[in-house]
Amino acid sequence: MKKFFFALMVLATMGSTAMWAQWRLVDPRANVGLKDAYKDYFTIGVAVNQRNVSDEAQMALIMKEFNSVTAENDWKPGEIHPQEGVWNFEKADKIANFCRQNGIKMRGHCLCWHSQFADWMFTNKKGKPVKKEVFYERLREHIHTVVNRYKDVVYAWDVVNEAMADDGRPFDFVDGKLVKASPYRQSRHFKLCGDEFIAKAFEFAREADPDVLLFYNDYSCVDNGKRERIYEMVKKMKEAGVPIDGIGMQGHYNIYFPEEEQLEKAITRFKEIVKHINITELDLRTNTESGGQLMFSRGEAKPQAGYIATLQEDQYARLFKVFRKHADVIDNVTFWNLSDKDSWLGLGNHPLPIDENLKAKRSFQIIRDFDAAADKRVPKDDWVPNPMNQPGQEYPQVNSEGFARFRVEAPDAKSVIVSLGLGGRGGTVLRKDKDGVWTGTTEGPMDPGFHYYHLTIDGGVVNDPGTHNYFGSCRWESGIEIPAPDQDFYAWRKDIPHGNIQKVDFWSESTGKMQTCNVYLPDGYGKLVKGKNGKLTQERYPVLYLQHGWGENETSWPVQGKAGIIMDNLIADGKIKPFIVVMAYGLTNDFKFGTIGKFTAEEFEKLLIDELIPVIDKQFLTKPDKWNRAMAGLSMGGMETKLITLRRPEVFGYWGLLSGGTYMPEEIKDPKCVKYIFVGCGDKENPDGINKSVEALKAAGFNAEGLVSENTAHEFLTWRRCLYKMAQSLFK
Ligand code: G3I
Repeated sequence: MKKFFFALMVLATMGSTAMWAQWRLVDPRANVGLKDAYKDYFTIGVAVNQRNVSDEAQMALIMKEFNSVTAENDWKPGEIHPQEGVWNFEKADKIANFCRQNGIKMRGHCLCWHSQFADWMFTNKKGKPVKKEVFYERLREHIHTVVNRYKDVVYAWDVVNEAMADDGRPFDFVDGKLVKASPYRQSRHFKLCGDEFIAKAFEFAREADPDVLLFYNDYSCVDNGKRERIYEMVKKMKEAGVPIDGIGMQGHYNIYFPEEEQLEKAITRFKEIVKHINITELDLRTNTESGGQLMFSRGEAKPQAGYIATLQEDQYARLFKVFRKHADVIDNVTFWNLSDKDSWLGLGNHPLPIDENLKAKRSFQIIRDFDAAADKRVPKDDWVPNPMNQPGQEYPQVNSEGFARFRVEAPDAKSVIVSLGLGGRGGTVLRKDKDGVWTGTTEGPMDPGFHYYHLTIDGGVVNDPGTHNYFGSCRWESGIEIPAPDQDFYAWRKDIPHGNIQKVDFWSESTGKMQTCNVYLPDGYGKLVKGKNGKLTQERYPVLYLQHGWGENETSWPVQGKAGIIMDNLIADGKIKPFIVVMAYGLTNDFKFGTIGKFTAEEFEKLLIDELIPVIDKQFLTKPDKWNRAMAGLSMGGMETKLITLRRPEVFGYWGLLSGGTYMPEEIKDPKCVKYIFVGCGDKENPDGINKSVEALKAAGFNAEGLVSENTAHEFLTWRRCLYKMAQSLFK
């Protein structure tokens, strides 16, 4: 029961990660480390502080997930060499020894930087500025000492960090005069030495270690101007023989920036001049800021809004897809801190895939559980408008493989998310073009059949103006129909007679209000026919009471369930004798999550048996007896069916559960009380449970039948197929 109910929960909360958060799925690949998932691509690193290498749980997490470590702060010149002749190796060694003891290689960060630097190198004992030659001697001694101390554990050094100017500063103030901005950051290093200090630092590092990879490291490398400044500087240095092996792209990005194209542009540009690119300090803040600067918004330490988490998951997925594509030059991706608790950006930004309690977020699983085949997959270009679109609406569109693509005009929005996406993903995040039009395609083929969805625009939930609306998740949602190989059984056929569906309102004393149901009446209903006694009479029909799931209502089976069309096709093909189908509202939507144990369906039992059935038998040509009455339901409607049929076996002779649990022989007191039992689900749900149930029922002598729907989950094509099969065995 719990498992089926969980599936229902997932359906209900598709897209609202807040719900996801409280119902964290069991992680089937929890034993696979991030580093193992990427062993064919690049190493996965993490920047650590003292706490991370002092706590058993954190050390275990590091050893499981990562195969590269960077000291976040403890190897920086100002921390390790605060005064001339004064070395603080204790903290630095602690991190190095942790890595040595656990066979983890390190990225050295960093030897020469304008921040957290050994500023004493610029002045003499009297505080007077020294000549650059003196500065170089001191820098050389520092680099040789540190590089040699960690030569055995370091595979790459950030030799020079953040020496280039940021975008957006056309002028510099030099000696009080406004001059055209230099491509270089106006640091003390640069003011003393010009860009020669860069060359010197690399030469010193190469002297100290002939084999280690030497990197120039910076942030905002994807900014057009800065990308070109770094490119020109490294190219010039390398042409001058400066041993720069690689470029470190820090990767302090956000959930909106950069777009894949801009990131790829920087990587392919740098590929022209270096063989190695490392993503050295990856984190994704949940605002529009980016870069390594210390001026940034910390945000409030409050739980992450669902749609923000989806944007972050999607951005991580897109960035790693680009990194995998360029694994020929990218040989390391390092997260800047172990968890949100450690992040320099503060908890309020939730920037990392591991949360403040050291728990892997969905973004972590999305990064780890990538589908390599999907990386190269290009949807077939045979797009057609979605059959569920409003008149004249081109979008959304579907293709023959089951991909869906969307188009939404929202010029001023910062984010547009379609709640439809691949299993486990919080949705499909669209991208805005220069005209303010958002477009996007699902990352992979959707399951065939009908899917509810909605748009989340900057956190606001709205429907896609392109489609009709369908009642699901307790609201009218948008809907899309993905082609299915067997879709003919629910296709409207112009060459056959059709029944009709009547909307019936009736008073319910037990609920104290008018209730509504939709009643399918087969073609020919009510027509006079010659009875057995040769007299003209109106034929009477058995009745199937067919229930919807949580968040749906009496319109769900007739519309997205296509129940009427399925019946017409079955009757026309002579697969069944006509019968009436009653689709009523099952009082499901006031259900409070987390109270499943207390759900009894007693309210609906009273309405159904004491109020609705009498109305139907009075208003329609029914055969008003148990052996001409069936009850079936999908999802929560299935739960209601099981609870009511077992409690009131005298009312229905045929029982059906569609992704709504199963029956076991021992649950049915009197085997003679039911003529036929049907249980079914999608093969992405609990097929074993279905097969075991049918086997056990048959073994116990029940007329039982099951269906496991191919390539579907807890969704309407599963239930259409179940109705199609079950109907052929009812009232026989
Ligand atoms: O060590 C002192 C401690 O003694 C004192 O009690 C404490 C109180 O302020 O400050 C401690 O120093 C802090 C240091 O981190 C060590 O924790 C500094 O205030 C703080 O500014 C420094 O922040 C670091 C920042 O670099 C300095 O620029 C961040 O943790 C670190 O994540 C960040 O990392 C940089 C990369 O090295 C280069 N790229 C950008 C990235 C983010 O700015």
